[in-house]
Amino acid sequence: MRWYNAAMAKTRTVFVCQQCGAQQSRWMGKCPECGAWDSLVEQIVTPARGTGGQRAATVGQNQPIRLRDVPLTDFQRLPVYAEEFARVLGGGLVPGSVVLIGGDPGVGKSTLLGQVAAHFAASVGPALYVSAEESAQQIRLRAERLGLTADDLFLLAETSLDLIIEHIRHLRPRLVIVDSIQTVYLPELTSAAGSVSQVREGALRLMQLAKETAIPIVLVGHVTKEGAIAGPRVLEHIVDVVLYLEGDRFHQFRLLRGGKNRFGSTNEVGVFEMTGDGLREVRNPSQVFLAERNTQSPGSTVTVTLEGTRPLLVEVQALTSHTGNAQPRRTTNGFDLNRLLMLTAVLSKRVGLPLFNQDLYVNIVGGLRIGEPAADLAVALAIASSYRNQRIDPDLVCLGEIGLSGELRSVSQLERRLSEAAKLGFRRAIVPAHSTPDRADGLTITPVRSLSEAVELLTRKGIASSSSPAIEQG
Ligand code: TYD
Ligand code: MG
Repeated sequence: MRWYNAAMAKTRTVFVCQQCGAQQSRWMGKCPECGAWDSLVEQIVTPARGTGGQRAATVGQNQPIRLRDVPLTDFQRLPVYAEEFARVLGGGLVPGSVVLIGGDPGVGKSTLLGQVAAHFAASVGPALYVSAEESAQQIRLRAERLGLTADDLFLLAETSLDLIIEHIRHLRPRLVIVDSIQTVYLPELTSAAGSVSQVREGALRLMQLAKETAIPIVLVGHVTKEGAIAGPRVLEHIVDVVLYLEGDRFHQFRLLRGGKNRFGSTNEVGVFEMTGDGLREVRNPSQVFLAERNTQSPGSTVTVTLEGTRPLLVEVQALTSHTGNAQPRRTTNGFDLNRLLMLTAVLSKRVGLPLFNQDLYVNIVGGLRIGEPAADLAVALAIASSYRNQRIDPDLVCLGEIGLSGELRSVSQLERRLSEAAKLGFRRAIVPAHSTPDRADGLTITPVRSLSEAVELLTRKGIASSSSPAIEQG
């Protein structure tokens, strides 16, 4: 009986099967209840107070109220570094919220959050940057390079979450950054830092702290090879906001994308540029993405992609080159390879472009990744343009999804895309015939029904640049 009381008085850990929910007192390779292998995960249990372990249902302070009686006030928000970041958050950091930022190693998470912390310390109040990955000296060196010199910026190089929480309670900063959730650990759990139980319990503990103290906490999360945040999926359920910092580390542009947001829309995208002195926000991304465009060579088209609700103009490049290889090469950068294979098949079968003896390279300029089918037409026309060695009018944008029978399908939010193109000085647009827009903002619109019709325009010099040479077969 004495043993029972002692065990109930403090928290303990159990191993819970993720398949059937059975609890075991120690780790086992196979769940004795359901027979699943490697399904036991350590969890902390805090016994319920009072006898019987069951809480009586009570009518507390929260009462049902009419929806229309709920006061209509927006969340109070704290300003953060860079309007691009604030926009993705929905306007700023909400006190007591937990934000998780995921991204590939080296993409710039620590850089961005260092800048956020310094800016916050200078303009709002004390900020604490907890690093479980780098030493205080390393962070200081980087801060020195970036010119981050705020008086109220505190650093803590610590991995034990218990100690980190104690420091936060003691220091009472207005903002906490934890870099990263996979490298801090709770000493009471036996599993290693970064394991499912550590990540989940750690995030829960920080969430409680944030709600209790109204301090916003930003967590850095590592991603797996597939690009998802490492650890349990529940981590994304626990936190209030999930953001992804994306971009090719060999290119300068970074996109901060909303994955989940309890305080705003997830359609927002922030654009940054990695420079010698940190991440700088890019206010006019379309202009920047097109800055180095070579309008003189064939194989280049421009399309308007939607990142969230934001239209971005990007250049699509294609290169075809003759090969004797029985299996020609198909390589893409920033575009789905399977989608390219499909477009190649449509170009061969429906348009009659013999690509079987051509190596094919497609590149989305600037390190951007296009996932939406609205870019199909731009990719297909870039290939046709390179193959025929005929350059396309540099003032033209191409929009449209291509179906298997070569038909051009409509794209979402066409008018918004066209108005962005017009703003940047484009003069013509090829769009699917089904969705001819009401407004064109001064653009000359060419509605097209199929890919072969669009390629034909190219041959008839309809969309080819007026100064381009006659058709040369590649
Ligand atoms: P970092 O923020 O450490 O990435 P993460 O925390 O996501 O792993 O950024 C690492 C890369 O950024 C590194 O390869 C160097 C580059 N970088 C710059 O180009 N300019 C800078 O001012 C800084 C601080 C880093
Ligand atoms: Mg880092």
